[in-house]
Amino acid sequence: MSNMQDKVALVTGASSGIGRATAELFATNGAKVVVAARRGDELDALVAAIEAAGGQASAVQTDVSKSEDVQAMVQHAVGTFGRIDYAVNNAGIEGVFSAITELPDEEWDRVLGINLRGVFLCMKHQARAMLAAGQGGAIVNVGSVNSFLGFPTGSAYCTSKHGLIGLTTSVSAELAVQGIRVNLVCPGIVDTPMHHRARNLLGDEIYDQGVLPSVHLRRAGRPEEIAQAIVFLCSDAASYITGTTLTPDGGLTLTV
Ligand SMILES: NC(=O)c1ccc[n+]([C@@H]2O[C@H](COP(=O)([O-])OP(=O)(O)OC[C@H]3O[C@@H](n4cnc5c(N)ncnc54)[C@H](OP(=O)(O)O)[C@@H]3O)[C@@H](O)[C@H]2O)c1
Repeated sequence: MSNMQDKVALVTGASSGIGRATAELFATNGAKVVVAARRGDELDALVAAIEAAGGQASAVQTDVSKSEDVQAMVQHAVGTFGRIDYAVNNAGIEGVFSAITELPDEEWDRVLGINLRGVFLCMKHQARAMLAAGQGGAIVNVGSVNSFLGFPTGSAYCTSKHGLIGLTTSVSAELAVQGIRVNLVCPGIVDTPMHHRARNLLGDEIYDQGVLPSVHLRRAGRPEEIAQAIVFLCSDAASYITGTTLTPDGGLTLTV
């Protein structure tokens, strides 16, 4: 547990899975939390759950691929709670898995638009808000083991997640001198709705015989376990860590 009293955290993709668990963990640690995603009902339910547990939260419906939405999201956070100390850019989609010969141009643009352009837009406006407040901050982007590894039919998703390494390292170098740390968390297989959709797309056989045996801990991760890595990188316990990648993957990338 970290003491995050009087801190403000912004989490994108908070309506589900890893983002929801991260928002709840920030609130447990005492931070005020702004939760963003497209589905307003899910966000309202999360705000109610955080408030029922004694925390403070506010929801803002956002499509991270739209510049005007992202600007409004950051303005909402600053307008509601005064500033942003921690920003977690977690929103993402798996998209359609397809051979490159069949991958529609629009699908490539959709996946890159949310997973890569969305993180660019979020960081741009979050960094402006943090620099204006002049109190430093921490940004964590959510990549994937597919930030390092490809898989057949995964070109759009894997490209978007590989791109986050360049985005994270470059921006961490830009912002370090102003006291803003930027890191990347690259989860392996995590038990969320995205994981179940991906499993359906790949097929149970490929998953059970091809994917799961490469996880040395022999199980999928829980969203709460990824949230711990994200919140750690935001906390003062990580005060000398910037530009790095933390890979909570149960050992998935240890061996081929
Ligand atoms: N689960 C895994 O095995 C795994 C592994 C490695 C990396 N990851 C990464 O972890 C992150 C979270 O995934 P998850 O597993 O928690 O998936 P999830 O349960 O499907 O959640 C994805 C979240 O992203 C939001 N989102 C999607 N498109 C958005 C958009 N255009 N604007 C704003 N929010 C958007 C969704 O909310 P709305 O639909 O309400 O907008 C949802 O809250 C993703 O970046 C994913 O790539 C997941």
